[in-house]
Amino acid sequence: MLWAKTQGRAKYNLATSGVASFSLRDLPVTIDQLEINGDSTYGYAPLQYAIAKKCGVDPDCVVAAAGTSMANHLAMAALLDPGDEVLIEQPTYELLTSTLLYLGAKVKTFVRDEDNGYALDPAEVRRAITPKTKLIVLTNLHNPSSVLVPDPVLRDIGDLARGIGARVLVDEVYLDAVYTGTPKTACLLGPEFVVTSSLTKVYGLSGLRCGWILAEPDLARAMWRLNDLFASIPAHPAELLSVVALENLEQIRMRARKIVEADRALLKDFLARQGGISSPRTEFGTTAILRLTQGNVDDFLARLRTEYKTSAVPGHFFGLPNHFRIGMGVDTEMFREGLRRINRALGPL
Ligand SMILES: Cc1ncc(COP(=O)(O)O)c(C=O)c1O
Repeated sequence: MLWAKTQGRAKYNLATSGVASFSLRDLPVTIDQLEINGDSTYGYAPLQYAIAKKCGVDPDCVVAAAGTSMANHLAMAALLDPGDEVLIEQPTYELLTSTLLYLGAKVKTFVRDEDNGYALDPAEVRRAITPKTKLIVLTNLHNPSSVLVPDPVLRDIGDLARGIGARVLVDEVYLDAVYTGTPKTACLLGPEFVVTSSLTKVYGLSGLRCGWILAEPDLARAMWRLNDLFASIPAHPAELLSVVALENLEQIRMRARKIVEADRALLKDFLARQGGISSPRTEFGTTAILRLTQGNVDDFLARLRTEYKTSAVPGHFFGLPNHFRIGMGVDTEMFREGLRRINRALGPL
């Protein structure tokens, strides 16, 4: 996160993970709809209903949180005691692991194998699970690869968890980037599932910090109480704006879709021609993880930045030292030029 906040940017910024920012002026809202203080205690009712409606769950299952970041922290803090055993996918989003370690969990991993296109293989979870496992953590879409976990696989993972009284935490912050036949939230698959998400990555609304946890009502209540230690009450203007955003969500999502799809077409073409890179072909999502077939990634990225003004995320943040991650959905001309520059930096094969 320190790297992303301080070193990610460049003229051709491919170190992104979410779509282009959505502007306040494009949201159908006027100043008289806003207020500084409101009736928000354990949730602001209109926002609770709007999130519940979007996700197809009961409002009692929704815990609002400041982005998926706080949703993950709050969910893990409510589900775990220090010393509890947790299984997490590898590779994954680094902050999930560091939050688990911060909370004193005993972290074990299961592999999402590059040679298997980073697919989630329940056999890997079965191999790693023990009667002491309290929580299984995964991302869907997968960060960094954007690979989708199909429902039957999620059900298998849910069965494994239920068999030992564990839960499954699914971070779905990228899931709505599946634009056709968008899968329903894993929360609907059973009470062992706890889900986190937000309006950040796929909607360009990061500044609203509109995030949430979905969990069965008893657990949701416990999370609300725990949140009294963390955030207590959210910023009310952001709650009001989030309600408006949720009312107009499909238009907001479709604006970014065009850019994501144009960028993905460019990426496919790039991968087909560029032998110095290997990567699974994915249909969805705003990120892709690329393997450099020769040479040192950190040296390559340093040269890419200084000589070609182009940035990408070093793979070591995901435990993939021979890889780097690029992002789609911000600006197609920038993405096209960034790929051109990667081609030039790789040189003739
Ligand atoms: C898997 C995953 N979860 C959560 C986050 C943070 O999301 P938010 O901006 O909603 O806090 C990120 C950001 O990169 C992410 O990749």
